[in-house]
Amino acid sequence: MVGRPWAGFDIGGIPKYRPKGRGPYAWAMRLLESFRSVARFRPIEFDATRRRLSRAASVDDLRRLAKRRLPAGVFHYIDGGAEDERTMNRNVEGFAGLEFKPRVLRDVSNVETASRLLGRSIPAPLILAPTGFTRIAHPEGELAVARAAAGIGLPYTLSTMGTRSIEEVAGVGTGPKWFQVYTWRDRGLVRELVERAAAAGYEAIMLTVDTAVLGRRERDVRRGLTLPPKLGLDTVVEGVIHPAWTYGLLTNEPITFSNVVGRHGVDGTSAVTLSEYTNSQFDAALSWSDVDWLRTVWDGPLVLKGIQTVEDARLAVDHGIEAIALSNHGGRQLDDAPAIVELIEPVAQAVGGQIELIADGGVRRGGDIVKALALGADAVMIGRAYLYGLGAGGQAGVDQVLGFLVDGMARTMALTGCQRVDDITRDLVSWRDPSRRAGGMGPNSGRPGPPLSPGSLLT
Ligand SMILES: Cc1cc2nc3c(=O)[nH]c(=O)nc-3n(C[C@H](O)[C@H](O)[C@H](O)COP(=O)(O)O)c2cc1C
Repeated sequence: MVGRPWAGFDIGGIPKYRPKGRGPYAWAMRLLESFRSVARFRPIEFDATRRRLSRAASVDDLRRLAKRRLPAGVFHYIDGGAEDERTMNRNVEGFAGLEFKPRVLRDVSNVETASRLLGRSIPAPLILAPTGFTRIAHPEGELAVARAAAGIGLPYTLSTMGTRSIEEVAGVGTGPKWFQVYTWRDRGLVRELVERAAAAGYEAIMLTVDTAVLGRRERDVRRGLTLPPKLGLDTVVEGVIHPAWTYGLLTNEPITFSNVVGRHGVDGTSAVTLSEYTNSQFDAALSWSDVDWLRTVWDGPLVLKGIQTVEDARLAVDHGIEAIALSNHGGRQLDDAPAIVELIEPVAQAVGGQIELIADGGVRRGGDIVKALALGADAVMIGRAYLYGLGAGGQAGVDQVLGFLVDGMARTMALTGCQRVDDITRDLVSWRDPSRRAGGMGPNSGRPGPPLSPGSLLT
């Protein structure tokens, strides 16, 4: 062995060398030869955005990239929730409380994620939720998100608080578009927006009903966030250390609430806190009679977003609503509201089949979509997931998020033995918590349990 230090040399996959020649040169050449046989270099990517995105393997990775790219105030406006953020976190963690009961030896060579919602077919049961002030994450804002959704035919919901107009977004691709309304005190303005959405070909109106007043988002309170952002010393420093974001902000037209532009006091041209804005403009007196009023100005499908109890789900059925979004606004409104995943089953048992159910909150993986469907949802909706993609890399980042989710859904279906969405049934998942299994979750315990009392999980 003395004088032949390479003998038996083996580092992580480099084979052992038995050089025939002598001396360090022969040894180095053989080492190089062996290295060449195992080295695999990725082609060099010259586009900075693509290079950045290529390092992300999950929505969570994109969240980290967005955190690096966006000024802290902007990132936390997107990422944060109300008060102690328990509901926000439980929305995400709730999905981890379920495990699959995978079936095997079922031909899954052709998995199909396609589904139907509000009378039309969609490539996957996935909707892009309304998010206000989207251009704060990227100058293209809603246009980039709508393009990504239209690229694969998923419904995109434009927010009343959008920073691109109803007409601009309608002009993007051919994918289905929905419009979300808050109810301003000025009902004339609401009627006008709904009529514009109808004229521009939007297919559904989504009325958000969980915003009587704005939740207290303490990350924004601490940073004194205003919309549009006000310049102060801290924002200047943040702007300097996030030059790409700052360049985008300074070289594009000012961010305003594009749908009400020119309406003094409501168009977002004067910097106010979101809670000041909401509390002065939105109607806290909103009630079921307003839902009936909305019917008189819109005769297409109506979606109520923000339903959080079985009782309100039943009322929605009584009022002839086509779909409800079980939603706590991504945990941004009432802290300690129920986690979405816990709402799905009791609501599905009470009103499933009479109204379509959309689960909104905490979805970060394709497997979450499968779990929500197994519990009785017809579709899921995402908010932050696509905003992380947008913040990390504009439309390409949103494309990537949608790819992760739809591919992840197909992969989960294959690994659990489901060929089509109809194969995703209640017996595909069980709660990890043994007390819930014993609590009448039927197939979880392997035997039919007593019917679940809807109130038991919700009160
Ligand atoms: C930055 C941000 C802005 C939002 N703006 C609106 C809005 O204008 N209207 C609305 O109905 N919901 C809004 N939401 C809530 C989303 O539509 C959705 O309910 C929520 O993001 C779902 O939870 P997730 O983020 O965990 O997917 C917003 C959410 C975020 C994160």
